[in-house]
Amino acid sequence: MRLLSTLALAASLVCTPALAGPAPAAAGDKNAFIADLIGKMTLEEKIGQLRLISIGQDMPQPQLIKEIAAGRVGGTFNSVTRADNRPLQDAAAQQSRLKIPIFFAYDVVHGHRTVFPISLGLASSWDMAVVEQAARISGKEASADGLDATFAPMVDISRDPRWGRTSEGFGEDPHLVSQCARASVRGFQGASPANPDSVMAFVKHFALYGAVEGGRDYNTVDMSPQRMYQDYLPPYRAGLDAGAGGVMIALNSVNGVPATSNKWLLRDLLRKEWGFKGVTVSDHGAIDELLRHGVADNGRQAARLAIEAGVDMSMADSRYLEQLPDLVKSGEVPVRLIDEAVREVLGAKYDMGLFQDPYRRIGTAAQDPADVNAESRLHRAEARTAARKSLVLLENRNQTLPLKKGGTVAVIGPLADAPIDIMGSWSAAGKATQSVTLLQGMRDALAGRGQVRYARGANMTDDERVVGYLNFLNWDNPEVVQDKRSPGEMIAEAVETARQADTIVVAVGESRGMSHEASSRTTLSLPGSQQTLLRALRTTGKPLVVVLMNGRPLTINWERDNADALLEAWYPGTEGGHAIADVLFGDENPSGKLPISFPRSLGQIPTYYNHLRIGRPFTPGKPPNYTSQYFEEESGPLYPFGYGLSYTTFSLSDVALSGQTLPRNGQITASVTVKNTGTREGETVVQLYIQDVTASVVRPVKELKDFRKVMLKPGESRVVSFPIGEDKLRFYNGKLEYVAEPGDFNVQVGLDSASVRQQRFTLQP
Ligand code: BGC
Repeated sequence: MRLLSTLALAASLVCTPALAGPAPAAAGDKNAFIADLIGKMTLEEKIGQLRLISIGQDMPQPQLIKEIAAGRVGGTFNSVTRADNRPLQDAAAQQSRLKIPIFFAYDVVHGHRTVFPISLGLASSWDMAVVEQAARISGKEASADGLDATFAPMVDISRDPRWGRTSEGFGEDPHLVSQCARASVRGFQGASPANPDSVMAFVKHFALYGAVEGGRDYNTVDMSPQRMYQDYLPPYRAGLDAGAGGVMIALNSVNGVPATSNKWLLRDLLRKEWGFKGVTVSDHGAIDELLRHGVADNGRQAARLAIEAGVDMSMADSRYLEQLPDLVKSGEVPVRLIDEAVREVLGAKYDMGLFQDPYRRIGTAAQDPADVNAESRLHRAEARTAARKSLVLLENRNQTLPLKKGGTVAVIGPLADAPIDIMGSWSAAGKATQSVTLLQGMRDALAGRGQVRYARGANMTDDERVVGYLNFLNWDNPEVVQDKRSPGEMIAEAVETARQADTIVVAVGESRGMSHEASSRTTLSLPGSQQTLLRALRTTGKPLVVVLMNGRPLTINWERDNADALLEAWYPGTEGGHAIADVLFGDENPSGKLPISFPRSLGQIPTYYNHLRIGRPFTPGKPPNYTSQYFEEESGPLYPFGYGLSYTTFSLSDVALSGQTLPRNGQITASVTVKNTGTREGETVVQLYIQDVTASVVRPVKELKDFRKVMLKPGESRVVSFPIGEDKLRFYNGKLEYVAEPGDFNVQVGLDSASVRQQRFTLQP
């Protein structure tokens, strides 16, 4: 441990609370410590604590060190080594007047040095141990690089796949996303965010960012309170209930008021109603953006609106620093508001353990890793397991898969050997040179037993405008590199390669930049170059295995009809190529299920499964006229929420209920028998949905309430039981009361959301 300041020593004598919210026994100590510290601070030092600096963007390092030493910085983000962070912490903990440590944050969303599958992929595992472990390892790796906090998990519900950030979240369903939120927070923070191998989780983006109008990033959100409370807010709440120490505020407005200046959101809901005790940060430059939202005339007003609303830290803008001193001196902003914000910032640092030891994650120079990218620092085995579990088998005609390990496989496509793309967006400190691409994974799997032939076959897109957009931020090191050959030449080579092979494995989809912040799309099909490639490969008549890499549902009707096998791989991360090969060759039996519905066409959006009931529903098998549907196209999603195949088959019995009536405060049990009716061991997810038959307000057709992932040997069957109490029946009524209304409920159990078995019971008055 480094030289301790008096403050740090004082803090080290008190015990560190176990979770972000102060544990009752320690709360007094923490509060007293912070109150004492605030009492010693000048106004400028207080305002300094509210400033969150983006490393490399806001100012050069020598200036930053001076700012920190002057007490004008509370924390930084975007530096990812101990060596980079140490001089900054020296300036804070040794040179600043009060020696208050700063904290270091980063966007560790789905891995750090080891890249795990994107969140949409992790959610596809429906395995919370997998989700938690990915976050636990991310926390360990990030903290080992001197980081104290992560701007994750991102738990925005997304029901519009045009939105590029769909890839960052866990899908469309409140229950599944909430489960993932809890598991992620548990993983990042471990037993306590104070532990040296933990990072504090900042749940984001509060709130409703996933509902931007038209799926266009940064657009407005206008939503009824019922929908908010019922569907969009629960995941944030779940992350906070799991103990997340921080919240990042969304960039969008909510019903006409930007989240960054939204008192109702940040004070009434977050603090008063939910009792959140941690720190809030604005998103990048969001206080400045209040001017462009048109709710502030100038920076002064923006700073005032944000502090009044309850934004504790301002990220990457200088409005607080410039404006708050005078706003306080003039009496426009009471110093009480500044003190409240400072209390949360210091409280977060306290909970991170930084007052005990500012260097608890930075260590000494002698302890620095010789090579931050050393292989020994990676967690490949865990990443491979997570990636295997994240893959969703969409089609498998004539048991095309699993493939035999032998013969010749043609590995084709712009994503077959794409080490950057396979990591997905927000891949933190991951290094593309350490990614195992699909090509590499296939070569490793077939080593000594079969041949692999490779052809790229197509560029990601032939649209130079799109290429320009995707490379905009990376001109020096462009991510989308075009093959200079003509599309015809590339396809001819691919077809020739395919002709010489027994099987074609073709990897198509989106470059990772297409599924990213600011990457909204107006089409969801594969780019034209890739569609032409697939059609050409189909003409060879060879078995066609299509592997999709993408960060959102795509419209893949042709692919569904023409591929012999179709595997959704999302962006599976560092070990993605091995994991896909494990599934293609049957070393792993796929068990992923979609956490989001796939539409048939763009015009069909939204296609989320848990939509509200209507007066003229389309009913399969009945004449469609005057029912709610699009007449040119089949109704319902292309692939429903919860769908995914296995190499074995499962059957599900009827639902048995332990009783027909549920007394208030009582419980009944819904049981089904699930059987492995195939010839190999495999896992499936038994999903419990509930439908409120009649209620005081219109309720969804069904809502996921519980699920179990079960592994079964061939021929094995198991009874899966779901307890049902009032908690699973509650909803927000017209007065926003969270109630379970008496009456009938349908219990629906299925292996996806579309085909379910149903039984009815009654909740007593
Ligand atoms: C994103 C956040 C991210 C922040 C810091 C913003 O542009 O919206 O999700 O945490 O940048 O990198």
